[in-house]
Amino acid sequence: MATVVSAAAGEQAVSVRPVAPGPILLLGAPGAGKGTQSDELVKLWGIPHISTGNLLRAHRDQGTELGKLADSLMNEGKLVPDTLVNQMVAVRLSEPDTARGFILDGFPRTLAQADWLDGWLAARADTLPVVAVSIKVDYTHLLQRITGRRTCSVCGTIYNVFLKPPKVAGVCDLEGAALVQRSDDTELCFDGRMRTYESLTAPVIEHYRALSRFVEVNGDQPVAEVAASIVSSVERLRA
Ligand code: AP5
Repeated sequence: MATVVSAAAGEQAVSVRPVAPGPILLLGAPGAGKGTQSDELVKLWGIPHISTGNLLRAHRDQGTELGKLADSLMNEGKLVPDTLVNQMVAVRLSEPDTARGFILDGFPRTLAQADWLDGWLAARADTLPVVAVSIKVDYTHLLQRITGRRTCSVCGTIYNVFLKPPKVAGVCDLEGAALVQRSDDTELCFDGRMRTYESLTAPVIEHYRALSRFVEVNGDQPVAEVAASIVSSVERLRA
């Protein structure tokens, strides 16, 4: 039977689909829409959204050793070392809310991380094989998406001053809280992030393309249409 998740202020409650989607990987360049699509899929499937970028930013805000290291690397568009990120992901994936599945956003980002994840999932007999979704967006649109992004400091809702502005500038429609800009969302840092993506993360997409459960969706469409493509592709692959 479908259950109902609680809705944020101003939003309608959403029925969670009874299908168990299992582990889903959202892959794509900076600004491709991984976080935006994760929010849509969480509403539909009721499984957790696990973003390694968000986990690292939480470490940074808490001032942990990992967070201090991540802070400088993130602002240079470089990756945090694989072993540290793998350990962080292992802890999060061991939590009970991942039993029906989870959405991994921004992980794996290197072939070494993909090998680690494949091994970790293979060792969990109760877990479905992973479905990898690559969100493809034209390079020329990514910069506008990155430099225009603003995020609610309370609920994390993602806006864009050019493409999806809030009703009142600088204020979240749902929370009334201040919107913030990420320190790595500058044009200079975007160049470094794209170079890292091309050299280290693009091969990860080819790794999953070669496996049977892979889909590439066109991310240059309205958010709801991208979400519909992802949902129909994942449900077809799971059928
Ligand atoms: P992370 O936070 O993962 O950043 P990223 O991968 O660069 O991706 P973004 O969060 O920038 O973009 P997104 O695809 O989620 O797009 P969004 O939905 O927000 O990582 C940050 C850093 O942490 C890394 O650089 C690295 O240093 C470190 N790190 C993270 N993971 C790591 C790992 N595994 N290993 C090592 N280091 C790691 O959308 C962007 C904008 O576009 C928004 O404004 C949105 O409103 C808009 N938008 C989205 N979809 C649409 C649409 N369909 N139409 C129009 N506008 C849209």
